[in-house]
Amino acid sequence: TRPVSAAGAAFTFEPIGIATDQEIHVPNGYGWKTLVRWGDPLFKEAEGAYSPETGVPVEMSDKVFGENTDGMETFTDGEKTILAINSEYVNPEINLPAEAEGMPRDASEVLLLKNMQGVTVMEIADNGEGYAVVLDSPYNRRITHETQMTMDGPAAGSDLVRTNADPEGRSPKGTMNNCGSGKTLWGTYLTCEENFNGYFGATAEREATEGEVRYGVGGEGRYAYEKFDERFDLAKEPNEPNRHGWVTEIDPLDPASTPVKHTALGRFKHENAEMVQAADGRIVVYMGDDERGEFIYRYVSKGTWAEGQPTEGLLSEGTLYVARFDDDMTGKWLALTPETTGMPIEEILVFSRIAGSKVGATTMDRPEWVAANPLRVEAYCALTNNKDRGVKANAGGDEQPVNGPNPRDTNNFGQIVRWRPEGEDHGAETFTWDLYVMAGNPKVYNNVYAGSDNVTEGNMFNSPDGMAFSSDGMLWIQTDGEDSNEGEFEGQGNNQMLVGNPETGEIARFLTAPKGAEVTGLCWSPDMKVAFVGIQHPGGAWPDGNGKPRSSVIAVWREDGKAIG
Ligand code: FEO
Ligand code: CA
Ligand code: CA
Ligand code: CA
Repeated sequence: TRPVSAAGAAFTFEPIGIATDQEIHVPNGYGWKTLVRWGDPLFKEAEGAYSPETGVPVEMSDKVFGENTDGMETFTDGEKTILAINSEYVNPEINLPAEAEGMPRDASEVLLLKNMQGVTVMEIADNGEGYAVVLDSPYNRRITHETQMTMDGPAAGSDLVRTNADPEGRSPKGTMNNCGSGKTLWGTYLTCEENFNGYFGATAEREATEGEVRYGVGGEGRYAYEKFDERFDLAKEPNEPNRHGWVTEIDPLDPASTPVKHTALGRFKHENAEMVQAADGRIVVYMGDDERGEFIYRYVSKGTWAEGQPTEGLLSEGTLYVARFDDDMTGKWLALTPETTGMPIEEILVFSRIAGSKVGATTMDRPEWVAANPLRVEAYCALTNNKDRGVKANAGGDEQPVNGPNPRDTNNFGQIVRWRPEGEDHGAETFTWDLYVMAGNPKVYNNVYAGSDNVTEGNMFNSPDGMAFSSDGMLWIQTDGEDSNEGEFEGQGNNQMLVGNPETGEIARFLTAPKGAEVTGLCWSPDMKVAFVGIQHPGGAWPDGNGKPRSSVIAVWREDGKAIG
């Protein structure tokens, strides 16, 4: 059955050209404004906390919007609109005084950096033009590297996740490197912990374990946390990194709720978590592991669910699978169990990458967001790029020769793979796959690096990353790539957001970001009239025009007031 609204649908906007400037561009007939910037207040007491010269003081740092906005989702209590938004990482250079030279010098500076990351939950209200933050809303909340959490699933309580501060291994603190997002069918937020490894370091010489090597844990922490907080010191707390790299569930509508880390969904560098349902009602979550030569995963719950039923156990009792893509354009989900891997279940979950290698999963070109088509049983994963494909093995992992869905060595452009489960059932064990698009540059190349037929000089891009489907069945694609506009990237301009028609393959450019920024994170207002779009790590002094660059969420709407998604 072909979806009616997407089949052959003309784009409702006039595609725009590339940009190389420090501005946002959207099509004619659309407007935009900044919704919230790094350092903007969530509470009245933090009004004026941000200074263009000095940023945010530590005492206000958990009362403002965090830095480096990423995945986000919209929620409603039936009346009010609430956004949950990830802050992936922090730029110490603009958060700390110049004298710090980009590294915290004491525990207070460490706390400032911790508080600028994590998750922001905030109420927004339609003020007529693209919404504004509601200061002091009871929903407003920051969840940081220090927030108390719990853990469930088969790895919770195991020896691998016990620490001195938490000998039971069930009460971890903090969620970190919150990259992409997801929304459960029952209306809670999933935040995905990506490059958690970089937060840990050792203050004394020690030998790295196999698991640490595969996950890149070791060396010096990127923010020197380990020098001021023992929790991050591998010499004192070698199991602390095992408490990160999970999918964590937050209830944005209950400000008193405790976030839960779901170990059943596996531990890796989680990009996002796309939840759908199997034909029999089981919960299915698709997940990418963003590292060169790592894998795509699927979780399937044991129990089933329908609207209004309890959600207990749905994300703690189930089976984790990893994808094998065969060159004949079929594929199979390989279960990761003690029988298939010879590993105990807690090791399978904490070291999912090692388990995936044991069963012969397919090495991928950096799996970023997965998005499922709401009008058809199929899912898409952005494989952003992989300079090592065909060149060398991934760090601590498998060899990565070219293979079916990763057909180019030294892949600097990326592609989007799509799979259709057998029998139109996300719970099926097998699927067929194809490439929705292979990005490239037809201006510079006339070989495989020119890209697939749906890539033209008018719509080209590199490094697809964020993706989401709108309710009309269109695939929105955000890029996080090379924006030099030179060499093999000539004619591609700044990072951008495009809209793809899944039926015809047509792709059109909808938005361009300021130079230096990536576009990441996309959700819509409940009435679909406003799209919220994340602009991460802008360059220059965007958007203020003076002072520091400020990562921001923008609101985009149609000037005629019609829905845009
Ligand atoms: Fe945080 Fe893979 O992007
Ligand atoms: Ca990303
Ligand atoms: Ca990326
Ligand atoms: Ca990023």
